[in-house]
Amino acid sequence: MEALLSSTTLPLKPLHIPNSISSKQLTFASNSFKINPKLSRSKSLQSSSLPFKVVASSQAVPASAETSTSTTTIPSKMKAWVYSDYGGVDVLKFDSEVSVPEVKDDQVLIKVVAAALNPVDFKRRLGKFKATDSLLPTVPGYDVAGVVVKVGSQVKGLKEGDEVYGDIHEKALDGPKQFGTLAEYTAAEEKLVALKPKNIDFAQAAGLPLAIETAYEGLEKAGFSEGKSILVLGGAGGVGSLVIQLAKHVFGASKVAATASTSKLDLLKSLGADLVIDYTKENFEELPEKFDVVYDSVGQGDKAVKVVKEGGSVVVLTGAVTPPGFRFVVTSNGEVLKKLNPYLEIGNIKPVIDPKGPFPFSQVVEAFSHLETNRATGKVVIYPIP
Ligand SMILES: NC(=O)c1ccc[n+]([C@@H]2O[C@H](COP(=O)([O-])OP(=O)(O)OC[C@H]3O[C@@H](n4cnc5c(N)ncnc54)[C@H](OP(=O)(O)O)[C@@H]3O)[C@@H](O)[C@H]2O)c1
Repeated sequence: MEALLSSTTLPLKPLHIPNSISSKQLTFASNSFKINPKLSRSKSLQSSSLPFKVVASSQAVPASAETSTSTTTIPSKMKAWVYSDYGGVDVLKFDSEVSVPEVKDDQVLIKVVAAALNPVDFKRRLGKFKATDSLLPTVPGYDVAGVVVKVGSQVKGLKEGDEVYGDIHEKALDGPKQFGTLAEYTAAEEKLVALKPKNIDFAQAAGLPLAIETAYEGLEKAGFSEGKSILVLGGAGGVGSLVIQLAKHVFGASKVAATASTSKLDLLKSLGADLVIDYTKENFEELPEKFDVVYDSVGQGDKAVKVVKEGGSVVVLTGAVTPPGFRFVVTSNGEVLKKLNPYLEIGNIKPVIDPKGPFPFSQVVEAFSHLETNRATGKVVIYPIP
C-alpha cells in the first residue's frame, strides 16, 4: 500500500510516514489533483470600489509605529476584512487601516499570501458562538498560508522568510483570536503552524489546515486504523474530501465509501473512494453493509448510527448526536501538519480547491456567500492577498 512505511520516529499514531520518496511517487506527486488555472492569473485588488473604515484594536501596535526587521519592513496598518456586529455577509467590511497585530513571545507574524474559509467562519460571524468568542470587531479567518516576517523571543523553530501554513486559532470556538487571517498580516503561535509543503502553492496550502486537522483528529478519536472500513458522509466538502484521502492513503482503510450529489461522484473516486453513493438517488442507511467507522460531516448523526458495525465509531462534526456517535471540536495543532507534510509532498494527499475560486481579496463577500450555499467543493480559498 502506498506510503505505509516506517513510523518509528513519529509520535502520532497511526501515521506511517514514508522514509524516502521513490521516483514513482514523485511522478504521482506531479499530477496533483487540480491546479486551478486561475492561480496563475494575477487578480489585482480593486480597492477603489471598497468601503473603508478605521477599526480600533486592543492588541495593536501604536499607530505611528513601523517595525523594521532584518529583511522586511512591517507597516503599522494593513488591509483586512472586519465585522463589528454579528450578522449576515453584509456585516463584512473592507478596511485599509487595521492595526497589524502585535507578536507575542511564542508567536510569529505572517505576511498572508492566501487564506481559506471554513463554515465556522460564518457560524461565528452569525453570532452562534457569542458566549465564548473574542471581542468585536473581528477579523475573520482561521486558515493561512504565508511568509514569516517576524518572530517572538521564544520562537525556536521558525525564522523570517519561512513559508508556513496553519490554523491560527487553537480552539475553534473557545476564545479564537480577534485578528484572523483575512488580512495582510496575522499572528499565530509557533506550535499552530508548520512549514508549507514544498510542492504545493500558497493557495493550495491555505485550504488545508483546519479541514485536514479535523479529518485527522476525528479519524484518530474514532480509533480508525489499517484494514478498517469507513463511510464518509459529505465526501466532497472541505473536511470530507480529506477524510477520504487520509483514510485511504494514510491510515490504510480496507474500504472507503462516501456520499455526494451526482456531479461530484467522480471527484470522490479520484480521491480514493471505493464506493460512491449519490445521496440524491440512494439512502446510505439502506446499504446492505455496515462500516467500522462512519464520519459524518453533514449533520446526519441519526442515520449514521444505522450503518455502523456493532462496536464501531460514529464521528459527528455538526448537528445532533445519537449514541454511539460522538462529536468533537477540532484543536489546531501544527504537529499534525508536520506529520502529514510527507504525504502532501509525494502527492498522496491532494488539496481540493473549489472551482469557483480562488477568490481575490476584494471578493471575500462573494466567497462567503458561496460557502454558505453548503455546496462548495473542497475548499473556498482567498488568493491573492495583497
Ligand atoms: N466539529 C469540528 O471541529 C468541525 C470542524 C470542521 C467542520 N465542522 C463542520 O462540519 C461541517 C462540514 O464542514 P466542511 O468544511 O466540510 O463544509 P463544506 O466544505 O462547506 O461542505 C460542503 C459540502 O457538503 C456536501 N453536502 C451537503 N449536503 C450533503 C448531503 N446531504 N450529503 C452529502 N454531502 C452533502 C456538499 O456536496 P453536494 O454539493 O454534493 O451536496 C458540499 O460539497 C460544517 O457544518 C462545519 O461547521 C466541524
